[in-house]
Amino acid sequence: MCGIVGYIGKRDAVKVLLNGLQRLEYRGYDSAGLSVIENGTLLTFKRKGKVAELVKLLEKKQINCSVGIAHTRWATHGEPNDINAHPHTDNSNTISIVHNGIIENYHSLKQMLLAKGFHFVSETDTEVLAVLIGYFYDKTQDLEEAIRAALSEVQGTFGVAILSAKEPDKIVAARRGSPMIVGIGEDEYIVASDAAAIIQYTRQVIYLDDNEMVTLNRESYSTKTIDNRLTNSIIHLVDFDLSKIEKGGYEHFMLKEIFEQPQTIRDACRGRLLVDDGNARLGGLLPVFDNLRNVDRFILTACGTSWHAALVGEYLIENLCGIPVEVEYASEFRYRNPIIRKNDIVIAISQSGETADTLAAVQEAKQKGATVLGIVNVVGSSIARATDAGVYIHAGPEIGVASTKAFTSQLVVLSLLSLLLGRMRNLSKLDGIQIARGISELPSKVEQILERADQIKAIAKEFSYSRNFLYLGRGYNFPVALEGALKMKEVTYIHAEGYPSAEMKHGPIALIDENMPVVFIAPKDEIYDKVISNIEEVRSRKGRVIVIATEKDERIKKYAEKVFYIPETLPMLTPILSVIPLQLLAYYIAVELGYNVDQPRNLAKSVTVE
Ligand code: G6P
Repeated sequence: MCGIVGYIGKRDAVKVLLNGLQRLEYRGYDSAGLSVIENGTLLTFKRKGKVAELVKLLEKKQINCSVGIAHTRWATHGEPNDINAHPHTDNSNTISIVHNGIIENYHSLKQMLLAKGFHFVSETDTEVLAVLIGYFYDKTQDLEEAIRAALSEVQGTFGVAILSAKEPDKIVAARRGSPMIVGIGEDEYIVASDAAAIIQYTRQVIYLDDNEMVTLNRESYSTKTIDNRLTNSIIHLVDFDLSKIEKGGYEHFMLKEIFEQPQTIRDACRGRLLVDDGNARLGGLLPVFDNLRNVDRFILTACGTSWHAALVGEYLIENLCGIPVEVEYASEFRYRNPIIRKNDIVIAISQSGETADTLAAVQEAKQKGATVLGIVNVVGSSIARATDAGVYIHAGPEIGVASTKAFTSQLVVLSLLSLLLGRMRNLSKLDGIQIARGISELPSKVEQILERADQIKAIAKEFSYSRNFLYLGRGYNFPVALEGALKMKEVTYIHAEGYPSAEMKHGPIALIDENMPVVFIAPKDEIYDKVISNIEEVRSRKGRVIVIATEKDERIKKYAEKVFYIPETLPMLTPILSVIPLQLLAYYIAVELGYNVDQPRNLAKSVTVE
């Protein structure tokens, strides 16, 4: 949610900043802007809309500068327009700031500053921070000191990068609850909210900690806590390259990421699957092995697509290990008073590792003394660092706003975890071998599905007129129904609902008529016959039935208008296959309707505000 990039070095700063914004655009795309210092003067340019609008604005300008900060926005305070776009400046146009997060006490700070005679041009909380820093800067004449003073007044979350026209060879950045990474190049530094903006220039990075501040000069940098104690920052190497954040010949990131799934599933299993032992090895959990042995209950917490993965996790862990599981929306978990007992383990699931609600749930659980684990994609992210131990899903950067490959990798990791936990308890080696084999065969089965993507494209063409979709599944595939509906809503703006198939008769059945497409996930498993009965109920009300079925299931054809086959696998692994045609269906309908698939309206890739 919102992207920040700042540059100081020898290159043309405008070029580096615009390039960085383009790489970060998936984080927010309602407006963009940048500030640079040219011959001691602070210049700020901003535009409503996509980064392309800002590029257009700057095309004809000759700017000679090698230091600047930039931002791509997902609006929280104030509508997306030129004025509310970042950067924001103080009243004397000396300080410029870009900000991710929310200043919760901005209203009282604003009143205080208004009373002192300062004025504001935008409706944003960020401008309040700019003016506050300016106020302290007037007194201290020292940028870092002014920032420290201002940030200690602030309640809320921030990732900020700040420039001053009076100290033109410096960028100061700081974070609390919103990511900030410093790229260490040769005589150049790039600070950004996401490694994607950095790796073109350097793969050596420092992840700022909460309440940490960095000062970047042309030839050196230093890190301190916001309350002015020196910190010792460790340089890490980012383990992905540029090709991972480019489209690589695909029309959209979403399609590329759907097609990457055979590989990302392999990567999630790499070195972890012990087929001959019928077990899994998850090195990241070693520090909490004893806790896992003694666990009485798991609480899985997450948002959005990751929450759907958590629901599948509930079925997996309860079925394979007999350990009770509760699944909680992170946003709910943090605001009630969750009961956490001594042997409970909380698992936070997050692609980005930055979702504010999930991070807050982690903090709440830790405060209550729970062991907290993370299943996270982004290495070094806040959730990964805040948890006691965890497992990376290794899906690589996910740029498409609608999550696809991260979901299947989360499911793979949850399957591995269930296998490991099951084998610690009552799961036999033979059953373990069968499951491990099933997991190892998934990549080639996903390939077989993707080879038939055109069949889904044809279905998408025929159904793109629809204004509603219903998705129905049972057992392991109930969460897949929810995920299919979410994908449809996110990228096509078509209203869609997911339901447990049998629940349909308790309400949604009233919606069914000849215009309602109903997507059933009906693999051949022990509840297959029950799902057939549910399909009959829809057919008899003239609903248009699309079924995701197990290959060779000829019987299903007589019940469905469209059938898409997925290869046979263990029931517990079907979600990893059945979700793929649903991702494709949403994708192809969105393309058919002419929407921007990678940047759907109103959404952000990672929601770093509550
Ligand atoms: C946002 C994204 C969703 C994502 C959710 C949770 O709403 O648009 O695609 O599932 O956040 O994100 P996380 O990074 O925590 O998995």
